[in-house]
Amino acid sequence: MRRFHFDATDSTNTQARRLSELHPGEVLLVTAAEQSSGRGRQGRTWHSPRGGAWMSIVWPLRKKPAEYAAASLAAAVAVTRALQEIAPQCAGDLQIKWPNDILLNGEKVAGILCELQPGRGELGAGALIIGIGINAAFDPDRLQKDLRHPATTLQAAVEGPVIVEEVITAVAHQLSLALTTLENEGLGPALLPELRRRLAYVGAVRTWSAEKGVVAGRVVGVDAAGRLLLDTDAGQVTCSAGELLPDNSTPGEDAL
Ligand code: BTN
Repeated sequence: MRRFHFDATDSTNTQARRLSELHPGEVLLVTAAEQSSGRGRQGRTWHSPRGGAWMSIVWPLRKKPAEYAAASLAAAVAVTRALQEIAPQCAGDLQIKWPNDILLNGEKVAGILCELQPGRGELGAGALIIGIGINAAFDPDRLQKDLRHPATTLQAAVEGPVIVEEVITAVAHQLSLALTTLENEGLGPALLPELRRRLAYVGAVRTWSAEKGVVAGRVVGVDAAGRLLLDTDAGQVTCSAGELLPDNSTPGEDAL
């Protein structure tokens, strides 16, 4: 895997997009010590101070784009595996908030932004750009306070230093294993049981927020394709896009 490192950049996902055009068909790892315009899901800003593991992987498509529908879930499993390797004492406290936030003791420690770079003729079949941000080795006080989405850092949970480079190496390794598995057998037995075991809020009532609107329901689990199952007053709903809110309030209400 060819690596490009920036001491400071706008966004590793943006750089990855540029670099994927220069290196079609290659798996690339793009990292930065800090990002000035880190991007999160749903147009949010991702605060990216020094001490975080800010990385993007360019993964050229070997299958049809539809085969990668669960790529962000596979990435979420890969990130929890890597964090468990780095901080075994936290293994039992890591959860996946569907679809792809990683929680540590109920607070967000990592996020994943999966984007598709379409193919362009001789430049190949296109690529997935999987951006991963891990709040690794900095004080959580440096994170912007968001009462709705409480966040933490790995450093706050482990006793002893967290080495960002080790986090990046472990995540890149686990991610390439998980994406290869996904290509060969889908989520399947190698990823699905772990996704289900680590799924946050199972049995609790939560609000699912998607473009179409919001709905509250009891979290049941995920189906074989990784879609979230919610029991609502109107019956079971299968969610394939959007996100679960960490509390059971609806957007617009301010969590105090
Ligand atoms: C989210 O939880 O909303 C996703 C956050 C993804 C952040 C990472 S940091 C590395 C990569 N570059 C970006 O601009 N975003 C992703």
